[in-house]
Amino acid sequence: MARQTDLIAPSILSADFARLGEEVDNVIASGADVVHFDVMDNHYVPNLTIGPLVCESLRNHGVTADIDVHLMVKPVDRIIPDFAKAGATYITFHPEASEHVDRTLSMIRDLGCKSGLVFNPATPLNLLVHVMDKVDVILLMSVNPGFGGQSFIPETLNKLNTARKMIDSSGYDIRLEIDGGVKANNIRQIKEAGADMFVAGSAIFGAENPDDPNKYDSICAEFRKELAAAEV
Ligand code: DX5
Ligand code: ZN
Repeated sequence: MARQTDLIAPSILSADFARLGEEVDNVIASGADVVHFDVMDNHYVPNLTIGPLVCESLRNHGVTADIDVHLMVKPVDRIIPDFAKAGATYITFHPEASEHVDRTLSMIRDLGCKSGLVFNPATPLNLLVHVMDKVDVILLMSVNPGFGGQSFIPETLNKLNTARKMIDSSGYDIRLEIDGGVKANNIRQIKEAGADMFVAGSAIFGAENPDDPNKYDSICAEFRKELAAAEV
């Protein structure tokens, strides 16, 4: 199966929350594709962020781009319908946070969203084997979850290779997403290792440029240039 178009997914964790709607408008106007929405509960991960109300507010503000809800909460099942109702496009969760992974994946799809599993740096991929038909996206964490601004863990490149092979041999239409430490100077290598959906928080929102009409034009263009140069 041919590789899908690259998707750039800015993580709003690094945006200015006091003007979130405007930040999302600017980053999408600059050419980003998907809004990556990090949900943390100070239990599964040691940080606390945003919930379904904020997702709904972005939709009410007029955001029409796909919203990629990355759940770093435990348990997950109770909150999933709330995010579906709030306008989530993708809902992904960590297998460690669900007692019944297959059931949770099915629940996400039954609610009309795209489903995905997230793998921490030390979590092996074998858990995927019997649920490949139930995932729309596989998200590999290239940092330990909880905070923006950490460094990319190089071993993730090998893991991307393995996940890419699993996807290609499965024949299913599954996105391979990477999250953590993605920058202009490593995004090309990350694509070459197999990713086709790229989350970036600090690299994008930290590069706000008042000279750009949409604030994030330069960084998004730099990402696109690097992605176009990748050999896959
Ligand atoms: C970390 C989050 C990431 C984070 C990425 O737990 O899942 O989405 O915001 O931030 P950067 O791109 O700064 O590593
Ligand atoms: Zn994330």
